Amino acid sequence: MSGSGSRIAVLLSGRGSNFAAIHEAIRSGELAASIAVVISNREDAPGLELARSWGYPAISLSHRAFPSREAHEAAVIAEIERSTADLVVLAGYMRLLSDAFIERFPNRILNIHPSLLPAFPGTDAQAQAIAHGVKIAGCTVHFVDSTLDGGPIIVQRAVIVEPSDTAESLAARILEQEHRAYVDALGIIASGSYRIEGRRVITTVKSE
Ligand code: GRF
Repeated sequence: MSGSGSRIAVLLSGRGSNFAAIHEAIRSGELAASIAVVISNREDAPGLELARSWGYPAISLSHRAFPSREAHEAAVIAEIERSTADLVVLAGYMRLLSDAFIERFPNRILNIHPSLLPAFPGTDAQAQAIAHGVKIAGCTVHFVDSTLDGGPIIVQRAVIVEPSDTAESLAARILEQEHRAYVDALGIIASGSYRIEGRRVITTVKSE
């Protein structure tokens, strides 16, 4: 564990609201970390434009420009390592990572998922929650391992499902909690005040 001042590589494919929340927490001094690089597999990702506007190194690496998944991942890994980031934060990155990628950064890759895992892994989690009729939904920040949305859980936040909710209205309220959850999880990881025991992430008080 690296202690305070983690250097974060953000990987995203779209809107970038979780990235924006992390940026704001760092800017305001709430989160002791820095953003080393922002990488997107989509040149048109609004999150990449945000990164440029805030002056971060912002790199577009379209998977379509590479002959294989391995070649694309190798390019992404090279940029992460060049940035000297020590934490990889998936913030709406719509690519599955290979085992080789995950093993390159053991317990150093975080993801956010819009459900209370292990319920509703995979795509359209909020619609899955509505279809299943759950009364409580939410979001999960977890370490990435080789299972789909299955790594050790760092932070979860719950959201009450209202009778009138649609997948869209529920997703909007979950998103507000995602922004809080990601900042909280990064605070724990950046401080180094945790240990992983099997599936459990135990938050510890750091001795000064
Ligand atoms: C979020 O709902 C996140 O949980 C999921 O992808 C979405 C990304 O949203 N993995 P944004 O790009 O951070 O706004």
